[in-house]
Amino acid sequence: DNVEAGAGYAKIILLGEHSVVYGKHAIAAPIPLTIRADVQRQESGTTLFIPRWGVETELHPPTTADNALHKSMDLILQRLGVRDEPMRVEVYPHVPRAVGLGASAALAVAVIRGVAEAFDIELDDARVNELAYECEQIAHGTPSGIDNTLATYGRPILFRKGELPSSAPAIREVHPARPIPVVIGLSGVRTLTAQTVGRVRAAWQAHPERYEPIFDQIDQLALAGVDALEQGDIATLGELMNIDQGLLNALQVSCWEVEELVQIARENGALGAKLTGGGGGGAVIAVAEADRTEGIAIAMRRAGYDTFITEIR
Ligand code: PMV
Repeated sequence: DNVEAGAGYAKIILLGEHSVVYGKHAIAAPIPLTIRADVQRQESGTTLFIPRWGVETELHPPTTADNALHKSMDLILQRLGVRDEPMRVEVYPHVPRAVGLGASAALAVAVIRGVAEAFDIELDDARVNELAYECEQIAHGTPSGIDNTLATYGRPILFRKGELPSSAPAIREVHPARPIPVVIGLSGVRTLTAQTVGRVRAAWQAHPERYEPIFDQIDQLALAGVDALEQGDIATLGELMNIDQGLLNALQVSCWEVEELVQIARENGALGAKLTGGGGGGAVIAVAEADRTEGIAIAMRRAGYDTFITEIR
């Protein structure tokens, strides 16, 4: 496959976020938003430059030692054996940050590939994925590995947590029978996945008997979703997503803006709508027949939300 030298993919989770942390299945797909990293060797200093996010900083010595971004960058350079090499890392994200589209993993993958290219280091995708997983651990604590896997491979997959990083996660590619139109609505509420994952974990620890049946139900939805996708059955996929949204709400990871976006989507012809990613804000995805996507996006924009229309292939 033609993976670009310094690129990492953004993703949506169609079904299965949160329960995937507990070993259940999830379906994720790339969206055509990438993060690109361009790495140039230089005379002195190690500079990280992300113009769109207002980041321009020296990596050595780290200015904010506890910053997750710095720590991830340092880990990448250390693991690739180029920590003492002066370089300028320029990152161009086409993915908004902290909206549940996997920007942190896409950034890690882009930088890993960019550094490898600049220093002629041979890395296969499995190694890229492993290293990005280590970066995700810095950002999220106990990530399932779904974000880095998608950011690395950039193909729709059925995912289940493996014994990372030593062995590969259990993945199976999913091949949609036809392109699935998707409208993405951004709630504008920034969230940290670590927070919502932590909240679900605390609730589960206090009452596993209340939460495990929810994880099991979500697992069933994700497995049924594979068939729906491979049959090109958007109506069934939409119904599964609607049920999943109800269960994510039961896990208390929804919020007012997410619910509004979901309702707007459904009222304007979406066959299904739900939050995607960590929740608590972030992004909403809606599936619909192609002739309805524009109307859904317009209605979301009228209500004050940023949107874009994409498709899963
Ligand atoms: O918010 P994102 O895009 O990082 O997605 C997180 C998905 C979760 O299932 C909530 C967490 C995980 O590690 O899988």
